[in-house]
Amino acid sequence: MTVLRLTRPDDWHLHVRDGAALAAVIPFTAARFARAIIMPNLKPPITTTALAEAYRGRILAALPPGARFEPLMSLYLTDRTDPEEISRAKGSGFVHGAKIYPAGATTHSDAGVTDVRRLDAVLARMEELDLVLQVHGELTDPAVDVFEREPRFIEQVLAPLAQRHPRLRIVLEHISTITAVQFVLGAREGIAATVTPQHLLMNRNALFAGGIRPHHYCLPVLKAERHRAALLAAVAGGSRRLFLGTDSAPHGRRTKEIACGCAGIFSAHAGIELYAEAFEEAGALEKLEGFAAFHGADFYRLPRNTGTITLARESWEVPACYPFGPDELVPLRAGERIHWRLSGAAAA
Ligand code: DOR
Ligand code: ZN
Repeated sequence: MTVLRLTRPDDWHLHVRDGAALAAVIPFTAARFARAIIMPNLKPPITTTALAEAYRGRILAALPPGARFEPLMSLYLTDRTDPEEISRAKGSGFVHGAKIYPAGATTHSDAGVTDVRRLDAVLARMEELDLVLQVHGELTDPAVDVFEREPRFIEQVLAPLAQRHPRLRIVLEHISTITAVQFVLGAREGIAATVTPQHLLMNRNALFAGGIRPHHYCLPVLKAERHRAALLAAVAGGSRRLFLGTDSAPHGRRTKEIACGCAGIFSAHAGIELYAEAFEEAGALEKLEGFAAFHGADFYRLPRNTGTITLARESWEVPACYPFGPDELVPLRAGERIHWRLSGAAAA
């Protein structure tokens, strides 16, 4: 049997929610990943260092006994964020980035940024203190086609912003299009991207396979096959600008299987195994470790992990659902098979 031993990976884009939902999902991530950037889109959002500190405490308290896992916090930027808050965040040692959600772009983004020009003072402070900017890169103008929102955002918002702040380090999150791949690979120093398992493994046909598939709905929405192929080729190329960010985004079954369902795919139950499948498909398993364990740590200027995990080329059936507080959670590949299995982890 093929066995793959990797430096313990990190997840550079993760939603863990709060309360009972947090307790239900955090063990999956802690079993695989040493650290994760925790997305701040709670209700209400994590807009201050004080809120991030309290949330970090709740995450640590929800870890299974003996787990070794470090939550890396991110602040939610709004039109009213004060540059002083950026200084507090940087000084905390536990906030590693701040995130732009264009207002209305996705789950719990109504408090998000209406016009990035309003953030110029905040971004200037981030640039000065070297706090990473994380970006949900979709234009929210309802007149823009949903499949074109990422390319239009890059042209109209992100490229000019990156020029106005030439030393600001930026992660374009969950890239989904050829435009994004080309932008990131060709951009100035200090620009990188996370890539999700769903955008590497599925195209938009997965939304409509035999009927409408709410559990494959996420934002940015899955794209056409040529975009998936470009993303896969890019990560297989081993660029240090691309790294692992699952965007695992749990929503209970009752909020997914309804007339107007939430965006988000839960993948933390197989948060490294799914990438092994993708890299294997691309014939690039030897590039998985850099993508999963090195590129993100280097970009965020954090030490690389020293422990290891072991994956075996062994197929297993994903449960139909997992407990999720009073609801249940339908994971990616529910009732189907995944071809890599986590077989060991050793924290250093
Ligand atoms: O699909 C998504 N779900 N995309 C996002 O940007 C947010 C996330 C969530 O929080 O559910
Ligand atoms: Zn996300």
